[in-house]
Amino acid sequence: MTENLDPKLIGKYTMATWSYKQGEMIALMIHLGHRLGLYKAMDGAGLVTPEDLANLTGLHQRWLKEWLRSQAAAQLIKSQDGETFLFEPEAAEILAREDSPKFSAGAFAVVRPSEVVDGIADSFRTGLGLNYDGLGSESAQHVEGMLGPMTKALLLPTIIPNLSGVTEKLENGARVVDVGCGGGMVIDMLSEAFPASTYVGYDPSERAIELASKRLSGRDNVELQLAGGEELPDSGDIDLVITFDCLHDMPRPDLAMKAIRGAIKDDGTWLIKDIKSSSNWEDNLKNPMLAMMYATSVGSCLQSAMSEPEAFGLGTLGLNPDVAEQMTSDAGFTRFTMHDFQDPTNLYYEVRP
Ligand SMILES: C[S@@+](CC[C@H](N)C(=O)[O-])C[C@H]1O[C@@H](n2cnc3c(N)ncnc32)[C@H](O)[C@@H]1O
Repeated sequence: MTENLDPKLIGKYTMATWSYKQGEMIALMIHLGHRLGLYKAMDGAGLVTPEDLANLTGLHQRWLKEWLRSQAAAQLIKSQDGETFLFEPEAAEILAREDSPKFSAGAFAVVRPSEVVDGIADSFRTGLGLNYDGLGSESAQHVEGMLGPMTKALLLPTIIPNLSGVTEKLENGARVVDVGCGGGMVIDMLSEAFPASTYVGYDPSERAIELASKRLSGRDNVELQLAGGEELPDSGDIDLVITFDCLHDMPRPDLAMKAIRGAIKDDGTWLIKDIKSSSNWEDNLKNPMLAMMYATSVGSCLQSAMSEPEAFGLGTLGLNPDVAEQMTSDAGFTRFTMHDFQDPTNLYYEVRP
């Protein structure tokens, strides 16, 4: 049988495939720009030549010239002639300014080692994914690079004040647990803003707890536990439980949710941040970053969510509002309020017993 291949479709799939290869190579260039301080050096420098950038950074001019041209070709830096280059302040917001909520270069800081890629391929054969420690020595830093800027921008000015009664409790001294605390950024911010409260961070990743321990060392009101959310004690005395971007990573989020119900006070609050997604495929298709989200699932979130036998395997887009409401109700919570805090990637749920 002969196949009649449509040349237009061949062209379409060729372009789509190679544009992802281009993305991979440009991602490496962004990694270098961030790692070598090139974006920071160019922020506010006006029109620069490779020689100027060499003077600003002490780096080799020939490499800088090729890098600048790659950035101009990628439309991240402007150049009319390939000799002089302008890094606009709007681009600096995304690539150079770490305090900006839009800062994104941190997401390129960690390059995956080949053994992690081998492990990801193996998960297709065995069914078992890699947990966060298996995802590379800098997995916790990688997470922070992706999620940190939005957390920094929204947590204190927007998220906490919108939760019913939570600011007052934190000011007066509340018991707070951050489940899946990662490198401890949320505890860091809250414990500085509300020093009368006490904080316990739980995470089963040694690398995450190591990073959090370094960041939070010397804080008397902070404790860290190398353990999953399902191991929370049934104490019934926690005022605020936080789960940020981690329920969909858990092999058994149902068990963690039940444990949270046992740990939380009857008038306590559970704050969930999870990926903005829908149970409807067509709604998800409206997300211009959907391909990246599913690829992130295969490469990270689903890995962790399948890292034990008998896992739920939610993955990056698995905890949509319908699933979240049903699962929290199954765990014994009766109140469920969804907040959209102008975070392009996440929704927030205020859940109460
Ligand atoms: C995407 S990271 C989010 C970290 C942090 N909450 C943040 O917003 O930056 C997901 C975290 O969930 C943790 N995790 C995985 N399984 C878990 C479990 N069973 N209980 C608690 N945390 C878990 C991972 O180790 C990882 O640190």
